[in-house]
Amino acid sequence: MGVAAVVPAAGSGLRLGAGKPKALVEVAGVAMVARAVDGLLASGVVDEVIVVAPPEHVEEMAFVTAGRVVPGGHDRVASVALGLAEVGDADVVLVHDAARCLCPSSVVEAVVSAVRAGHGAVVPAIPVADTVRRVDPDGHVVDLVDRTGLLAVQTPQGFDADVLRRAHAAAGDLRATDDAGLVEAIGGEVVTVPGDPRAFKITSELDLAMAEALVAAL
Ligand code: CTP
Ligand code: MG
Repeated sequence: MGVAAVVPAAGSGLRLGAGKPKALVEVAGVAMVARAVDGLLASGVVDEVIVVAPPEHVEEMAFVTAGRVVPGGHDRVASVALGLAEVGDADVVLVHDAARCLCPSSVVEAVVSAVRAGHGAVVPAIPVADTVRRVDPDGHVVDLVDRTGLLAVQTPQGFDADVLRRAHAAAGDLRATDDAGLVEAIGGEVVTVPGDPRAFKITSELDLAMAEALVAAL
């Protein structure tokens, strides 16, 4: 019983290009993975955190974070599955990207509450601010996508533990970019709760600069 969180942190961070795994890159002096784990624990609704690290950086991540650290896999789905295998008897499991390390506690609480209210899969999401167009491979506009009803999905995503296990067991070669996508693939319903702009994913150098500015402003 309880709430476990799996923190995928096993990516290499190619787009950030820091020369080390992105989760070990510091935001204002604290590694992203440490900030992500501390944020989950600070919410007061998470009992156990399992960090999934690049296999060659398990010790280093164990040194900087409060979570239990296990080796990850060749892509995000594989890494989450390896973390999920380490979850004990928790009945709620969160999956939270190390790269979304400034996510506020309110989002963690809202996701857990919605799972506790009976939803098998819950994602935080925020309205898309930009006008969205679909283009062909040459960059020519194919159509304008109606922004009404479009939301950008964040993490932590929350699941009934059995639902998430079934979704990963059925994933096979399916490479969804998030865990809710795997639940949808087995016919499960996914609901949203309000996300938060501070839960943005640090992908590029610009994102890192914005994260540093956000920490300085808080
Ligand atoms: N991730 C993971 N295992 C992988 C790949 C990604 O645990 N094999 C994690 C990352 O560490 C990150 C999250 O999934 O916390 C989201 O992935 P992304 O932002 O794409 O991070 P990276 O894969 O590290 O970055 P890039 O794609 O630029 O290399
Ligand atoms: Mg990646």
